[in-house]
Amino acid sequence: MIISSAGDYRAAAKRRLPPFLFHYIDGGAYEEVTMRRNVRDLQALALRQRVLGGVGEVDLATKLFDEDLKLPVVLAPVGLTGMYARRGEVQAARAAAGKGVPFTLSSVSVCPIEEVQSQVARPIWFQLYVLKDRGFMRNVLERAWAAGVRRLVFTVDMPVPGARYRDAHSGMSGPFAASRRMLQAVCHPRWAWEVGLWGRPHDLGNISTYLGHRIQLADYIGWLGNNFDPAIGWADLDWIREAWKGTMILKGILDPADAREAVRFGADGIVVSNHGGRQLDGVLSSARALPAVADAVQGDLTVLADSGVRSGLDVVRLIAEGARGVLLGRPFVYALAAAGERGVAHLLDLIAGEMRVAMTLTGARRIADISRDSLAAGIGDAGFGMG
Ligand code: GLV
Repeated sequence: MIISSAGDYRAAAKRRLPPFLFHYIDGGAYEEVTMRRNVRDLQALALRQRVLGGVGEVDLATKLFDEDLKLPVVLAPVGLTGMYARRGEVQAARAAAGKGVPFTLSSVSVCPIEEVQSQVARPIWFQLYVLKDRGFMRNVLERAWAAGVRRLVFTVDMPVPGARYRDAHSGMSGPFAASRRMLQAVCHPRWAWEVGLWGRPHDLGNISTYLGHRIQLADYIGWLGNNFDPAIGWADLDWIREAWKGTMILKGILDPADAREAVRFGADGIVVSNHGGRQLDGVLSSARALPAVADAVQGDLTVLADSGVRSGLDVVRLIAEGARGVLLGRPFVYALAAAGERGVAHLLDLIAGEMRVAMTLTGARRIADISRDSLAAGIGDAGFGMG
């Protein structure tokens, strides 16, 4: 199979994976309206072509929170990444480190923090949700710090999990889920051999380490549902700010008022995100939300963005709208499922190549040269509130 884009990796992942895993990563919440908007609104942003500017060699390097990145991309936290390839979090973190970008480990990863960080030289970033069990939160924060992690991505848009209809149909949850997953694994022998058999143990590594017993995949959806805390408010985050001496980035901000709260709270950064359309369906796409959020807080903290990114052109679009860096979720998991560490490394090369073309033809030699002037005024941004 010829792979020349993130879309090709998606198709390859679809063939390789048991359906419950493909649809878990590919799907979104409810009717998936926001998930589609993310991609559509981002692609609708027209880049402003400028020619003969003598751009020369494009430089993709940037700094986020004083950390050097070879391109303004961070691998996003994705739960269960270790089900998509053998010890998948380790493979993805290695690929990211090899390409000079950070990897963010989800708190609901298969591989625990210690396993991942001990196998990659570059410090990983770590993601955490607001959970009812504050003991677990303290425990993982301490373990992350001890392992050398200094950047915490704190997810604030998941006080309750949004319903993903596909999960109920695919065997991720719903009736006879365990036997359906087993049947699917049998029908996908390559995955069953490489990951199902040799990728064990399959549990939520960070949580099992804390509890001292295994939290199996079968308990995953139930565990999420039972442990998220819908009562959480800004005041509850104060102890985390106290407990965590490193960088704190709040992920899941869509509104300028919340972004200003994040500044008051003392966050170092925010991620403008709707969780890839996996939470509240019907909210704004990141492409539409980002300009107003960036205008509200630019200069006070570092604005990152995600949701809907499928190419290097999209990375340039979000940076043009005001993001300093972009988190990449689904595409890296597709690449990981299709070709492991090598696939993720190749995907990052593809993204870099796409960015180089977009930057050359919008007249940007460095990342700092990308601005709203890199977008054409006109139908692309109509109604996006970009003054
Ligand atoms: C978890 O954060 C998910 O989106 O499944």
